[in-house]
Amino acid sequence: MRAPKILVVAGSLRTGSTNARLAALAAKELALAEGEVTRISLAEYPLPLFDADFATDAGPPRNAVRLKQTLTAHQGIFIASPEYSASVTPLLKNAIDWVSRVREHGEPYYAAFKGRVFALGSASPSSAGGLRSLIALRQILELGCGALVIPEQITVGRAEQAFDDMDNLKDENLTASLKALARRLVDMARELARGIG
Ligand SMILES: Cc1cc2nc3c(=O)[nH]c(=O)nc-3n(C[C@H](O)[C@H](O)[C@H](O)COP(=O)(O)O)c2cc1C
Repeated sequence: MRAPKILVVAGSLRTGSTNARLAALAAKELALAEGEVTRISLAEYPLPLFDADFATDAGPPRNAVRLKQTLTAHQGIFIASPEYSASVTPLLKNAIDWVSRVREHGEPYYAAFKGRVFALGSASPSSAGGLRSLIALRQILELGCGALVIPEQITVGRAEQAFDDMDNLKDENLTASLKALARRLVDMARELARGIG
């Protein structure tokens, strides 16, 4: 059977982003777990700040449609995103809100979040590693968007010191957790792909 397609995206565009490093490492582990991995940056999908009038009058911007189509072309999605004020970054929330409004071929809102599986990670300078942002992100995806989100997740605390020169995680337990999460995402995405056809 074909390898399941896995999308990897970070919720930060900052130069030297620790979450982009976590996303890159996750992409490596997902490929080792035999996923067909695509890594994107949200910089490739610039979007205005969500405005409900704009969404109604002009329809979602082209980049929202493109991002939704990118999402739906994959069976698994790994998001690595920072904690801002105990929640998700506005960059990520804005992208999710725009994608939720894209309706192609008369499909319902949130169509892009159904029929695929999500896994979450966060890196932060705090010892908690962005845990609160993942609670918020899980709420948005599960309760808001009706998505299936794997219960296990990865939080990388003291993130500026957490990676070695090769951009691997120094902590063996964290490395094992990321490997296990990557394997779970690929396995679940494969099951979903099988169910879909
Ligand atoms: C507006 C703002 C709010 C933040 N709030 C939190 C926070 O609540 N908890 C936390 O651990 N870090 C917080 N941070 C610090 C980020 O975790 C830190 O900048 C991190 O490196 C961002 O991720 P990145 O390296 O992927 O860009 C905040 C940063 C910004 C800019």
